[in-house]
Amino acid sequence: MDKKIKIALVFGTRPEAIKMCPLVKKLKENPKFEVLTIVTGQHRQMLDSVLELFDIVPDYDLNLMKPNQNLWNLSSDILLETKKVFEKEKPDLVLVHGDTTTAGLSALSAFYGRIKIGHVEAGLRTFDKDYPFPEELNRVIVDAVSDLMFCPTDRACENIKQSGITKGIYKTGNTVIDALLYVVENKKADLDFIGLNPNLKTILLTSHRRENFGEPLKNICYAIKELVEKNKDIQVVYPLHLNPNVRNTVKPILENVERVKLIEPLDYAPFCSLMKKSHIILTDSGGVQEEAPALGVPVLVLRDETERPEAIQYGGVKLVGVNKEKIVKTAQELLDNKDVYENMSKAINPYGDGKACNYIEKIIEEYFNM
Ligand code: UD1
Ligand code: UDP
Repeated sequence: MDKKIKIALVFGTRPEAIKMCPLVKKLKENPKFEVLTIVTGQHRQMLDSVLELFDIVPDYDLNLMKPNQNLWNLSSDILLETKKVFEKEKPDLVLVHGDTTTAGLSALSAFYGRIKIGHVEAGLRTFDKDYPFPEELNRVIVDAVSDLMFCPTDRACENIKQSGITKGIYKTGNTVIDALLYVVENKKADLDFIGLNPNLKTILLTSHRRENFGEPLKNICYAIKELVEKNKDIQVVYPLHLNPNVRNTVKPILENVERVKLIEPLDYAPFCSLMKKSHIILTDSGGVQEEAPALGVPVLVLRDETERPEAIQYGGVKLVGVNKEKIVKTAQELLDNKDVYENMSKAINPYGDGKACNYIEKIIEEYFNM
């Protein structure tokens, strides 16, 4: 048999794991590939829970997370530690995902090692280097050094073409839909432990972005407080991200508010069930903006810009920003106006058909003439 193509998938945070684990599984089924899973451990508990869900044991765990880590140390650790693994394993192709520090620095490390690079979830842009910070720069860096770019949408492909790159750009859909369908079909999740009141409408909230730390996150919390005080028929669930910058801001404002539940981060399967059960989702998360339209749940995005404008065009998502009055007004309209609600919940999901991993597999085979 011809030599197998050695593919190293590198990831480190919760969202990367959710979107890369289905691809690890898919590529491992292909006898032409030798697949290596390398996790940086940029996240620890939130990464491990996803690996467990998908039954994936990494070949290398760099275990890099430090409490309240900073971008400088994490970046240099990723660069130096991935170098050692790449030098030892000599992969033919390194796959990274999205826009985290793990993605940016692992791609740069592979580039320095003259290894071919594939970018999963390529081409997302706000064209503003400060929003989201530092993710927009990571996207640009990864696409600049990539040989293969797997874009979720036409628009993402166009964004890369605009930068002058012409080769290696493919539309595949987003692997998050593959992950979501796999979990919804195969993993049962029990939400009883949250103690939701079945007679109340559930609003799901997640917020964790660096550019929302401080005042914007406080505004979001005060908006939630006002909404539950005004609407006795709603309850809010906020699975708190483990980043201390989030927890230290949110807890003093929302800890003892009636009908607000601050809970620990949920494993992916119960989180999918909770999204499905929710009446409205308020979020600054990237992944949730993609998943909720596939589940038919209206989303209000707590940011001023998004690199995911497709679902806004299709109608399932609204960009609300971080102004307290605007958040309250928009959420109230969704609660009160049935037509507005129905239009949002019936919108189409623009992020793929759940077969992104198959398309990526075929593109890699063709690239290596297999
Ligand atoms: C990171 C990504 C962000 C992504 C987010 C997904 C960067 C710069 N940021 O942000 O793009 O949207 O992940 O959630 O790459 N922590 C734990 N346990 C965990 C995870 C985090 O304790 O499992 C705490 C640690 O104190 C850690 C801190 O959170 O130092 C921050 O983690 P980090 O990955 O640097 O930033 P995030 O805000 O999670
Ligand atoms: N998610 C989860 N548990 C939670 C909150 C989110 O499993 O308590 C999932 C969510 O479904 C999505 C991903 O985590 O797939 C998004 O991660 P996050 O919001 O941390 O990062 P982002 O997508 O903004 O980079």
